[in-house]
Amino acid sequence: MIIAIDGPAASGKGTLAKRVAEHYGVPCLDTGLLYRAVARDVVRAGFRLDDIWAAVAAARGLDPSTLDDPALRGATAGDAASIVAKIPEVRAALLDYQRAFAKRKPGAVLDGRDIGTVVCPDADVKIYVTASPEVRARRRFTELEARGEAVTYEAVLAVIKERDARDAGRADAPMVQAPDAVLLDTTDLGIEAAFDAAVGLIKRKIGQ
Ligand code: CDP
Repeated sequence: MIIAIDGPAASGKGTLAKRVAEHYGVPCLDTGLLYRAVARDVVRAGFRLDDIWAAVAAARGLDPSTLDDPALRGATAGDAASIVAKIPEVRAALLDYQRAFAKRKPGAVLDGRDIGTVVCPDADVKIYVTASPEVRARRRFTELEARGEAVTYEAVLAVIKERDARDAGRADAPMVQAPDAVLLDTTDLGIEAAFDAAVGLIKRKIGQ
């Protein structure tokens, strides 16, 4: 059973994916972390984020055991990730790892931007999670503030809008709802309500 959860920045898809994975007792892969880690490794190696060859080398050499690095959750990491994520060879280098993860038995939950469209087009369930930019910015602002980062709501909103445009506008694997994905708008839903709605969708789809 493969469950694909996609959606824009700070839509709540990561929290939802983890909860759904726990509920079904399957592993969960936050694929955004892969792109965040590639960006981290490019910068650590002393290159610019738009250096294609440095980014491709970082993607090919990525060590998945470094994905629990707390720095990957920082304010600038998501934006940096979306710069390297535009590079087709970077995306290609990360595909095998994601697909192998998805094939685990008895199943897996993956969240990202292109899970339902590119990584797992045959996923059993596809959910596209969204919320208004203002609500997403409020959630991300609260999260970053709790981490002790000096950010303002306005700056977070501006970065989210810019990142959405970059992710939706790129040529390779753009962020888009798969035609067979179910839309889950969490603008007015808390975590519990979003989780209940997701489990309801999954039950209707696969009867579990
Ligand atoms: O948590 P948040 O939604 O802010 O970001 P994320 O899921 O960690 O993704 C960070 C960035 O990685 C995104 O803005 C995308 O550019 C890129 N990404 C992608 O291109 N494809 C994926 N499957 C996951 C993330």
